[in-house]
Amino acid sequence: MQNLPPLSLVLLAWATASLLPAQTSTRSRTVWDGVYTEAQATRALMAYGQSCAGCHALSTEGRAPLVGQQFWKSFAQKTVGDLVEFVKANMPNGAPGSLTDSTYRDIVALMLKSNGFPAGAAELGPNDGGNVQIVPKDGSTELPAGALVRVVGCLAQRGTDWVVTSATPPERAEHAAGEEASRALGNRVMTLKFVITRLDAMVGSRVAVNGLLIGEGGMEGINVTTVHRVAPKCP
Ligand code: HEC
Repeated sequence: MQNLPPLSLVLLAWATASLLPAQTSTRSRTVWDGVYTEAQATRALMAYGQSCAGCHALSTEGRAPLVGQQFWKSFAQKTVGDLVEFVKANMPNGAPGSLTDSTYRDIVALMLKSNGFPAGAAELGPNDGGNVQIVPKDGSTELPAGALVRVVGCLAQRGTDWVVTSATPPERAEHAAGEEASRALGNRVMTLKFVITRLDAMVGSRVAVNGLLIGEGGMEGINVTTVHRVAPKCP
């Protein structure tokens, strides 16, 4: 026992370690850590003007904005790598992949700047985006209102509401892994809104629900598009 440091020292060491800036590139970073440079964002202006500005705005007032609420709705809880890949694979609309990789990264740097994320000392390089999380400044891990998600849990009725109990946290629908029938459930209760199909026959079953989050993290429920039974029993 006398060989062990007092608990308070252990806790202090742990707390200090968690406050230190990332020492290695393997530690996950966020868009608040300065993951591009001012020069990189500035360099993108011409390419952006030629290839993107005809259809998109970098302010929330313009059409098809690449910033603000629309940006969060599509990219919160994804990585900067996902964003680069999306843009490369789909944009400019009609000519995807037509720019060089470094131009795509520069344009993403400009998008990051336009969304208010700080610049840093190093450019966004070819392998840098994958471990940079797009999260709000408060570090919230909840998906924003309007995100298209999937939730798995047990179907029940509460009063006049349909709900899913023992629900998993909402996941982006396009990322949601299969295995809905066997995966571990969570401890949330999600209210199902705007249900237009009859669900009575599925009460007590394990279901997978797709829809749009109402409120951050689905605080006010999920605007349902589909409900599938994935197993007869639940949990
Ligand atoms: C000819 C018009 C056009 C051009 C040019 C264009 N886009 Fe798009 N972009 C669209 C359309 C339309 C969508 C919506 C597509 C969809 O949702 O399926 C879109 C969607 C996006 C999205 C996803 C937005 C979201 O919130 O989900 C991003 C990011 C994006 N474009 C970036 C770019 C970038 C960067 C460029 C320049 C390299 C570019 N676009 C050029 C038409 C265009």
